[in-house]
Amino acid sequence: MAGYKIIFLCTLLSAVGPFCDGLNNGLALTPPMGWLAWERFRCNVDCKNDPHNCIGEVLFLEMAEKMASGGFRDAGYEYIILDDCWMNMTRDSNGFLIADPERFPSGIPFLSDYIHSVGLKFGIYEDIGTKTCGGYPGIEGYEKQDMQTFADWGVDYVKLDGCYKDPNTFPQSYPQVGAYMNQTGRPMVYSCSWPAYISGGNNTVPWQDIADSCNLWRNYDDIQDSYASLTEIVAWFAQEQDLLIPVAGPGNWNDPDMLLVGDFGLSYDQQKTQMAIWSILAAPLIMSTDLRTLEPQYRRILLNRNVIAVNQDKLGIQGRQIITSKDKGVEVWTRPITPTAKSGNTIVYSYAVAIWNKRDDGTPYPFSNPISQYGLTSKSGYFLRDLYTNQDYGFFLPTDLLTVKVNPSGVIFFKATPVIADR
Ligand SMILES: *[C@@H]1O[C@H](CO)[C@@H](O)[C@H](O)[C@H]1NC(C)=O
Ligand SMILES: *[C@@H]1O[C@H](CO)[C@@H](O)[C@H](O)[C@H]1NC(C)=O
Ligand SMILES: *[C@@H]1O[C@H](CO)[C@@H](O)[C@H](O)[C@H]1NC(C)=O
Repeated sequence: MAGYKIIFLCTLLSAVGPFCDGLNNGLALTPPMGWLAWERFRCNVDCKNDPHNCIGEVLFLEMAEKMASGGFRDAGYEYIILDDCWMNMTRDSNGFLIADPERFPSGIPFLSDYIHSVGLKFGIYEDIGTKTCGGYPGIEGYEKQDMQTFADWGVDYVKLDGCYKDPNTFPQSYPQVGAYMNQTGRPMVYSCSWPAYISGGNNTVPWQDIADSCNLWRNYDDIQDSYASLTEIVAWFAQEQDLLIPVAGPGNWNDPDMLLVGDFGLSYDQQKTQMAIWSILAAPLIMSTDLRTLEPQYRRILLNRNVIAVNQDKLGIQGRQIITSKDKGVEVWTRPITPTAKSGNTIVYSYAVAIWNKRDDGTPYPFSNPISQYGLTSKSGYFLRDLYTNQDYGFFLPTDLLTVKVNPSGVIFFKATPVIADR
């Protein structure tokens, strides 16, 4: 009976905020930030011809060095994460995982030590099935041993993919691996790909169970380097938002996949759009670009402190789409953030507001609404400030009209802070 009560209470409370804890290992209290190889470097194993871009220790050592020296670490980016294709094709003679000895000649503990020595944390990739998606050894049958290996190597973050395994086993297998991770005693962030293998079609996804086991989870399709891929993923997040928002909160995050900022497929405006929407979604900020050659204007997007502060807001409330593009081709997303104020017994939130022009008719589109349309209804009004330009829009009452001009496929992204003395 007690169990039913708890579930009932959770369902009730999750309508107003993230009150029901998921996995609680003290990690990822804000969305993880870091760098992951996959989107940009894929499974390039040709270190003979492409030594600086192949999946080998040179790439990760250079990227860690740039993360530390290039201002990324100081802005909050923390994890350097291996993706698929780092392993040898077979385990060693004692059944232990090993890195490809030609591409990682110094071995994984050396790489892990280097990453730690520059003030960063080390993430690794594996797969819950018999093989990784790229055909390298998976952990099935070696779950406990492999988690101990990771702990011994100083791993801080494990991304566990879902290829070569029946998704019907996930409700048992993902939590079991999490238990083995816990038993090592080493704190390791747990990134699960569990829902990505079942969320298509009309399947019911056990979001609360996933949050109970994982710090973050890849909800949906892999991101590709295009605006079409980005918009499709965001549309899915909008469609499912009433199920996704309640399970997000400190320690547990929905993951729409890596940032494309600095890569080839998005325009400058589209890159700002992704960074804004990922901040509204309280999404992990996992870069996957070549930090060694990153152009300054893209670097500035990734290092924008205002936008990062929205993403990392300590309340950890995931934002939502509140106006769809159906009507005018412009959609609006908002997220409650700090500082909060109190009006009687009501909490009055600050908000981050992203106005995204999905039109393609070539000119900045004037979009006009009283700010109450964006949920900014506190009678005392708000100060509005642009998060990308730092421009002050000034003081607005809920009925005051805000007119912005939004570039095609770009965003206007601002913060509204309530004007109430009692903070
Ligand atoms: C790495 O894999 C290859 C191919 O499966 C195998 O021949 C070799 O013995 C492995 N290396 C080590 C050190 O186990
Ligand atoms: C293991 O789980 C317990 C109970 O949730 C938690 O308090 C502890 O921090 C976890 N330890 C690690 C290393 O994850
Ligand atoms: C999902 O359900 C809807 C409504 O029942 C149906 O029209 C659609 O074909 C289903 N989609 C899939 C992929 O099964």
